[in-house]
Amino acid sequence: MESILALQMSQIQRKPLFKTMKNFTLALCSLLILTACSDSPSEHAEQKSSQTSANLFTTDSSKNAFSKAITPLTHEEEDLFILGKSFFSIPWVESPASTTARDGLGPLFSANTCKHCHPRNGAGVALTQEGEMSRSLLLRLSHKTSDNQMLLNKNGFEADSTYGSQLSRNGNHNVLAEGTPNVRYQEIKGHYADGEAFTLRQPSYEIKALNYGALDTQTIIAPRIGSALVGLGLLEKIAENDILKHEDIDDKNQDGISGKANYAFDPETNTTKLGRFTWKASATSVKHQSAAAAHNDMGLSNPLFPRHNCTEKQTDCLKEAQSEEQTFDLPKQRLDAIAFYLSHLAVPKAREVAEENKEAYEEGKSLFTALNCISCHVSEHTTPEGITIAPYSDLLLHDMGELLADGRSEFLANGKEWRTTPLWGIGLYQKVSGEANYLHDGRARTIQEAILWHGGEALKSKEAFRKLSKKQRASLLMFLETI
Ligand code: HEC
Ligand code: HEC
Repeated sequence: MESILALQMSQIQRKPLFKTMKNFTLALCSLLILTACSDSPSEHAEQKSSQTSANLFTTDSSKNAFSKAITPLTHEEEDLFILGKSFFSIPWVESPASTTARDGLGPLFSANTCKHCHPRNGAGVALTQEGEMSRSLLLRLSHKTSDNQMLLNKNGFEADSTYGSQLSRNGNHNVLAEGTPNVRYQEIKGHYADGEAFTLRQPSYEIKALNYGALDTQTIIAPRIGSALVGLGLLEKIAENDILKHEDIDDKNQDGISGKANYAFDPETNTTKLGRFTWKASATSVKHQSAAAAHNDMGLSNPLFPRHNCTEKQTDCLKEAQSEEQTFDLPKQRLDAIAFYLSHLAVPKAREVAEENKEAYEEGKSLFTALNCISCHVSEHTTPEGITIAPYSDLLLHDMGELLADGRSEFLANGKEWRTTPLWGIGLYQKVSGEANYLHDGRARTIQEAILWHGGEALKSKEAFRKLSKKQRASLLMFLETI
């Protein structure tokens, strides 16, 4: 394993991708799937036929549906893809270890591999098979409000002064884990307009064994579950003005739905940029979030987050971190490889429905529009390269009401606002992850439950859903499961 990695590294070091315009064009070619690629970007813009995007998608609808590469990739890109995949999938170990390619885990961390929280690139699960809180459901920590403008500008919030921005369930051998999180569910009963009953589960969280003392009194706990990693490279390609055109901050058209872009600090360029990723759209790029994950979730220092995730008060953590080699745990090329891998995963094609289900499917599709789901879950975007995609999201923030609110602000997102979750591939979540949990904290066990939690700007849509007949609900679900 190590020697294969080493070989791939040396190939990549010889010919770094994206370094020259030519290589950038090459990479773009692979995204556009042109049969004959030249070096002139202007020629690419003219290739707008739908066949050019054919291989950005996969017809695989098995548990590996989120793990296929777009094709074709050049040999160099394939190497980079495989390298990124391996660093995404391997379990990292504490340093020093005999294997330096993947050591540097911790000193404090939540899991030892990206894959743990994104199984087969799918969504995380809330509970383990034993009924305990899963590692892919983690707790973010931040002050409810803050007037520390410097921190707000840089991180989007003020972290707990002892524990930092996330509770680490694990520590290396000399460092105490921060605590053990626990989730409990309370059942809320409700019923559809036709009388059929449903049960939702409302989570509450506690942290047992807080090993470094109390949290700051202003600190609030915000749960987040690992997202499904579908079509990230394509979401990154949507033009900014295409996203902004759906904004309606003051609800001028008075449809009850506003939509607001988040702008976040991007540590790669040291500028503020449009946020597209994470549940509150506080990450500006796949690379940004990959680097943040390496730092926060696994304790891997990297060029975008050069320090270890120890606070000034965690002396054992600091001591351990200082004893590590003064190189990044995740150096630039490996971080780039992970981001390349995630950006070049094919999106599962919408599945065909059987002839006898066509009518129900069509009904479901029109209900998705009639119930106004489509105002936020925007079905179509065309990238500047002319690729039409259907992520079912506007990538904007919406107030989703008190029941979903976590009180935590991230840059421009307030405590009630969430990014519209893209819905492509949602019908495959269960197959890919083995279990399906939806919404930012995985509280919903079915797609229906996810809809029934909608409030705030989506309250009208939720109510309209609740009033559908059983047959209509089944049709909407059938549609959602194919997209
Ligand atoms: C301990 C669990 C955990 C681990 C380990 C983890 N992630 Fe995540 N990942 C999450 C959670 C939770 C979110 C949602 C974060 C948020 O909304 O703030 C997320 C979101 C993401 C996203 C954004 C997806 C989107 O559509 O918004 C990317 C990209 C990502 N992770 C990549 C990685 C990479 C790369 C690694 C390994 C270096 C990794 N993750 C390791 C839990 C994890
Ligand atoms: C006002 C905007 C808005 C409207 C209208 C809306 N949604 Fe959503 N939807 C969201 C947001 C924001 C989230 C994420 C909420 C969270 O995680 O707490 C979401 C989450 C979801 C999820 C869970 C996705 C996942 O992977 O966790 C599903 C399913 C969903 N919406 C379906 C629908 C359907 C069906 C309708 C119409 C009946 C609808 N939505 C209407 C904004 C909206």
